[in-house]
Amino acid sequence: MTTLNLLQRGFSMAYSEAGRGLPLLLIHGYPLNRRMWAPQLLGLADIARLLAPDLRGHGESQAVPGPYNMDMFADDLAAFLDALGIRQKIVLCGLSMGGYIAFAFYRKYAARLAGLILTATRAAADTPQARLARDQSAELARQQGVNVIVDAMLPKLVAPATSKNCPELVEQARQMMAASSLEAILGDLVALKERPDSIPTLSEIHLPTLLLPGADDQIIPLQEAQALHAAIHGSVLKVIPDAGHLPNLENPAAFNAAVRIFLNRLKPAEEP
Ligand code: MLT
Repeated sequence: MTTLNLLQRGFSMAYSEAGRGLPLLLIHGYPLNRRMWAPQLLGLADIARLLAPDLRGHGESQAVPGPYNMDMFADDLAAFLDALGIRQKIVLCGLSMGGYIAFAFYRKYAARLAGLILTATRAAADTPQARLARDQSAELARQQGVNVIVDAMLPKLVAPATSKNCPELVEQARQMMAASSLEAILGDLVALKERPDSIPTLSEIHLPTLLLPGADDQIIPLQEAQALHAAIHGSVLKVIPDAGHLPNLENPAAFNAAVRIFLNRLKPAEEP
């Protein structure tokens, strides 16, 4: 783990890195952290430079108070790339909230992107009911602490088969979520609730785009990825079997194989 002080952004960002070549920036979901990308850092370092930061407030990045928003996260990531001196185009891979951030990044920094990988995510904004649920979660977290959020999310986070067959993975996810600061949870809940509708962005995306939903996602149903596929020109949809909301962790072999094919097709165009 390395820490970068993002002075203009007002916090220090922790990140993990592996490999060389085309930068692949991995953006975790809510309320997780960069450790969720361990199987990608292990399995893809021979073909890309993997960069997995902890978003502000998360993991080992500084626990700055919220509220957060998706543009703010996108600006943090652009500052992170600047601090690393990365001028070449990157591939951005976002899981769930990381996907919402990827849409914001695309709107602000499309010129920095060579491709997008969107996993376990959706384009639509929260419904009024979902917005209310965010407020209720924030209230509960304030009163009872982070674990109340963890207990509510954990049963839905992975596919039923993963819960049954891989208790150690469920425990790993629980520990990752439980390590979140209250600042991160509250900051994220505002960002999630207030996030804009990204459906109008989809038809404007003119980049190689890979969609990797988990077949048994209980948080964001498969139809959401099918809608992304229909709306993003030329996108490739690969449903990850035996996986729920964390396809990269639940079925890393299938996930990494799909990313590898995608990157190998991109690389000739991106290499000098
Ligand atoms: C996530 O995994 O980032 C969240 O489930 C996203 C959401 O709640 O909309």
